[in-house]
Amino acid sequence: MTASILVVDDEADVRALLEDQLLSLGYAVRTAPSAEEALTLVEQAAPDLVLTDVHMRGISGVELCARLKADSRFALTPVVILTAVTDLDARVAGLAAGADDFFGKPFELSELGARLGALLRVKALLDHLERAEGVIVTLGATIEARDLYTAGHCERLAAYGVALGQALGVEEPLLRALRLGGYLHDLGKIAVPDAVLLKPGALTPAELEQVRRHPALGADLVRGLRTLDDVRPIIRHHHERWDGSGYPDRLRGEAIPLGARIMAVVDVFDALHTERPYKPALSTADAITILRTETDAGAWDPQVVARFVDIVRGLGLGRNGGATISSGMRRGG
Ligand SMILES: [Fe+2]
Repeated sequence: MTASILVVDDEADVRALLEDQLLSLGYAVRTAPSAEEALTLVEQAAPDLVLTDVHMRGISGVELCARLKADSRFALTPVVILTAVTDLDARVAGLAAGADDFFGKPFELSELGARLGALLRVKALLDHLERAEGVIVTLGATIEARDLYTAGHCERLAAYGVALGQALGVEEPLLRALRLGGYLHDLGKIAVPDAVLLKPGALTPAELEQVRRHPALGADLVRGLRTLDDVRPIIRHHHERWDGSGYPDRLRGEAIPLGARIMAVVDVFDALHTERPYKPALSTADAITILRTETDAGAWDPQVVARFVDIVRGLGLGRNGGATISSGMRRGG
């Protein structure tokens, strides 16, 4: 597929020159006379690479770079800044803004082509990894779809998990892991037969053992997917308990990764708060009462639960959190 490059420069002759050169190298090219216009074009269709001048009226090329890098949709799009080799201030500011490369004016066509080609190859690889991640998230949704009672559970867990992570002040990589973890925490249930997963009555000890293998199995399934490195601990440890009585590793206290402690609390709350084949939905107040009682008994991280209670009270959730059906996952399963 032809790689697309967005050229941003306020001088029309520079834009035309770059457009000609890049077209001759076989790229698809769009041009913008200002950073403002570039941001509009990027929203319309994300380019594979942005090549921008520094000094322009309005938003500078450095600021354009910073804005793109701060936006999770475009953070991986390479940005190359065009600047005179002697303009050290612009280079330092560009580096701070996350620029991927600099190119000196006046430019040499062969060198420009080689440098852009290298950046675009990395971008293509990253796109490929993102698609792999999309496949695995879809797989998580497929598991949810096996059971009518699970509709919305993953979305709610992703939303609760991110909100709770933000309230606890966690950084962006963990927030992303919590969002993906909402979808993927029960990935290992793909190996649990329907007869067990959807069984309305009590599970036999052997069936319970089958269900309890899902965190370790799910974590093994995403091993090797480096984009999910931060999500794997959430998958493996979302059924651990603060007092060490959980599974699969019987971790205790802060030895349980924070993301997994967060996911455990929102998972339990959602299980209590929504209808199951074997029980009606509890009210928000009753779900919180049980969550607190279990926390007092040592099951969950008290700080995480306290923050979550604050959030739930702030949201004023209805009985079902806006959904009418819920996960078929049993408590503790
Ligand atoms: Fe689970």
